[in-house]
Amino acid sequence: MCGIVGYIGNKKAKPILINGLLRLEYRGYDSAGVATVEKNGINVVKTKGRVAALESVEAIDSLEGSIGIAHTRWATHGKPSDENSHPHTDKNKNFAVVHNGVIENYNELREFLGKNGYTFYSQTDTEVVPNLIDYYYNNDSINDDKKVLRAVVSACNDLHGSFALEIISTYLPEKMIVVRKDSPLVIGKANGENYISSDIPAILSYTKDFYLLEDLEYVVLSRDSAEFYDENLKPINKQVVNIDWNASAAEKDGYDDFMLKEIFEQPKSIRETIGSRLTQDGICSIENLELSKEYLSSLNKIYIVACGTAMHAGLAVKPLFEKLCHIQTEVDIASEFRYRDPLIDEKSLVIFISQSGETADTIAALKLSKSKGAKTLAISNVIGSSITREADYTVYTHAGPEIAVASTKAYTSQVVLMSIVAIYFAEILGIKSDLIPELKKDILALPAKVETALKTADSIKTFAKKVYTEKDVFFLGRGIDYAAVMEASLKLKEISYIHSEAYAAGELKHGTIALIEKGITVVSIMTDSSLTPKTISNLQEVITRGAKTLVVTNQDLGDKVFDNLIKIPETSPLISPILSVIPLQLFAYYISKEKGLDVDKPRNLAKSVTVE
Ligand code: G6P
Repeated sequence: MCGIVGYIGNKKAKPILINGLLRLEYRGYDSAGVATVEKNGINVVKTKGRVAALESVEAIDSLEGSIGIAHTRWATHGKPSDENSHPHTDKNKNFAVVHNGVIENYNELREFLGKNGYTFYSQTDTEVVPNLIDYYYNNDSINDDKKVLRAVVSACNDLHGSFALEIISTYLPEKMIVVRKDSPLVIGKANGENYISSDIPAILSYTKDFYLLEDLEYVVLSRDSAEFYDENLKPINKQVVNIDWNASAAEKDGYDDFMLKEIFEQPKSIRETIGSRLTQDGICSIENLELSKEYLSSLNKIYIVACGTAMHAGLAVKPLFEKLCHIQTEVDIASEFRYRDPLIDEKSLVIFISQSGETADTIAALKLSKSKGAKTLAISNVIGSSITREADYTVYTHAGPEIAVASTKAYTSQVVLMSIVAIYFAEILGIKSDLIPELKKDILALPAKVETALKTADSIKTFAKKVYTEKDVFFLGRGIDYAAVMEASLKLKEISYIHSEAYAAGELKHGTIALIEKGITVVSIMTDSSLTPKTISNLQEVITRGAKTLVVTNQDLGDKVFDNLIKIPETSPLISPILSVIPLQLFAYYISKEKGLDVDKPRNLAKSVTVE
């Protein structure tokens, strides 16, 4: 969840590192630091706080070197403090390291190193790494040009857990070593320089040529080369991958926040997601997903496994898979799935949704599913991300980089893509349904309808101004609208810190209604005419008890009185969350703005959760 950036080239490293950190802050932002190779050795500058705080530390002005590593932290071991910030070094500052991930056996390693004369100055798991490298370096009697690399490999062999590491050393002042295991890291190759980052967008303005690392591939970088080695120090041949994301897609483009920009980008991102997978003539095909009729007919279950917003995307499409493909479909939270011994075998298809493709629990759930013989399909937004390299099949959402911590356009693209996948499966299975042509038409019309839904922004903003001081907000929905309100509620709590909960409207009477009192805000979505009368009854019950109501609907609700009624375009209920969530993304956004909060970087959260 931390952000890592590195540079080795002929320019001054500091501004490049700071610029990279600013772009990576969404991965974690409770402390930041840099280390560069200077004439007098390795210089480290680090501080508690955001990258802006690091920039104002006086010592940072003295960094002149053209090789450096940098880090923005999301604390796991040890509270945010100057000492716990990265980079960490050994006592003599011969090695400096930044780390993303968790070293699970750091206590044993500390004990071992302690017995060998090493001292620790932080509470972090990371600090064992430079010390362990130093230990192996000092205990190696061969003095050749691979000595530092050997020490790094030996140290990594002792580490349990996950890590992406950047290492600089006074023993190898013209190079840098990087390695990853279960934590993201990419190398951007440019002319006479190499950039390192935990995320592609942070260095996209420098290069579009990337080396995507596999677990435990060790890279020795110099200004104009990258040598790759396996654990036995055997050289590996590595190809450059060209990433065709537009660098400006990772900029704010005049919007106040990335989140607002990403909300308004949805007509475009959805158009990209549809791409040529569904043509105007209704031809549906998905690249790199050649599954036979025999295979799909043999399935007795589809699992959709994910975390957070991506899991909500799974809930939104579950009914579609069951209705169109006639295969029982279950949606699981990855962190639960991986430990509940799920009934998976070769008759299960397990689909993993992950914007970043780096979520630790989702990756672990994927490995488990593979080990039990199931085929696995990854739905991801990030080309070459870890999950895409583990899965049997990958289909990309092509939503473009999503920077704000709270996911918006990735969610709608996941639901759009999964809806097309459901249609694709149904057609392979030869299932005839009137729903299919209707859905195809509705999917193709989505970009224009999202445009219309975005026009609700002003009235949503007005309502947000009225309710932004609330302590609790309740969300109610039935059927598909229940899936949508779960996502809407998550958005609100993530960025406004208002306590909010989503309930199946029918459950209201089984407890929650006890919490409804005068003035409380209740938000509801109604897009399925067969369920609307039932949900209206539930809303009447809360209105009677004094609640204020915000209703998002595409139905004609006659003379029903709600405090705020937001109309969105009509579409098939099966894909309605793609439209109904839009005003509620805006609702969360405007409430957060009214409260003066940092919309893009909400407290305690990180965009990509690469630890358990
Ligand atoms: C974090 C993010 C969420 C995201 C979830 C899953 O909690 O803050 O926005 O939905 O992780 O991430 P993934 O990258 O796997 O979709």
